Amino acid sequence: MFKVHAVAAHRLPHLLRAMPKAELHMHIEGSLEPELIFALAQRNGVKLPYASVEALRAAYAFTNLQSFLDIYYAGASVLLHEQDFYDMAWAYLERAAADHVVHTEMFFDPQTHTERGVSMQVVIDGLHRACVDAQTKLGVSAQLILCFLRHLSEEAALETLEQALPFRDKFIGVGLDSSEVGHPPEKFSKVFAKAGALGLHRVAHAGEEGPPAYIWSALDVLGVERIDHGVQSIHDAALMTRLAQARVPLTVCPLSNQKLCVFPDLADHNIGALLDAGLCVTINSDDPAYFGGYMNENFVQTFAATGLTAQQAYQLAANSFEASFISESQRHHWMHELKVCFERFVEHDD
Ligand code: HPA
Ligand code: ZN
Repeated sequence: MFKVHAVAAHRLPHLLRAMPKAELHMHIEGSLEPELIFALAQRNGVKLPYASVEALRAAYAFTNLQSFLDIYYAGASVLLHEQDFYDMAWAYLERAAADHVVHTEMFFDPQTHTERGVSMQVVIDGLHRACVDAQTKLGVSAQLILCFLRHLSEEAALETLEQALPFRDKFIGVGLDSSEVGHPPEKFSKVFAKAGALGLHRVAHAGEEGPPAYIWSALDVLGVERIDHGVQSIHDAALMTRLAQARVPLTVCPLSNQKLCVFPDLADHNIGALLDAGLCVTINSDDPAYFGGYMNENFVQTFAATGLTAQQAYQLAANSFEASFISESQRHHWMHELKVCFERFVEHDD
């Protein structure tokens, strides 16, 4: 194990910001800032139920997941053309690069758009063009994961996968998001089996608000490689052992959990306990425009509130590369860069 020297508390935020990291749980539609929502509404002649940027931002007082999703789907209604999807993704990728995110796997919700008459091709082409530009212009590798909306039927998910197949080379996997409670993973067993047979990676939101049983079925019925959120696993000792032994990654989103009242006080977040239990935990921003911060804000606020250490900062960044769907050579490269970053930081300690 790479041993990290203690770092003075006032210098830790700098290290958190500077270290290379991968983001594995963010919804690209959740990166739409109110200013961009209004700009796109004007460009496309879409009428919004909010009078101003300030009025929209003032509505971001969430009490649970559903109260957020209602506003999140309304915000996405301004996206109509390929350029809109490009502009949204590009804005996020520039912010990610500024936070030293070197690799990102972005969720997108095609059903939110195809249900409004926007074609699958418009959605995927716009997002993918931004991913290509991120590599050449920002040095950030960016991939797409197609999410099924779990409040809709499995038939709708199967139809969505079918529509996306002509663009199979532009996304690397499938996920499951939207309203969790009452929509268990096993509802989507057929579509995940089909995605697996196609060689797509599989992930699913489970144990954000839902019970540990949903994490078990995401693993055993859907065959997922990662669990998105998964913080409720703490209530099931046998599940914790399984996750630790199999190194199943949890893509945890601390500011999201705070804003959606999963942990109303960030100081009470269980990320330290999950790390102490040996789980492959990562930190991510989920819906950064709605939850008050991108990657570095999530790191800095979580460390300040919970007292995580520099050793745990290294572990979280290392976990993000271990958990990501990059090649072995890329993983090797970024693990080396991560160590170099920490060694340089200690050398310049006073
Ligand atoms: N949970 C479930 N669905 C979502 C989320 C989330 O945090 N963000 C966007 N869709
Ligand atoms: Zn999410």
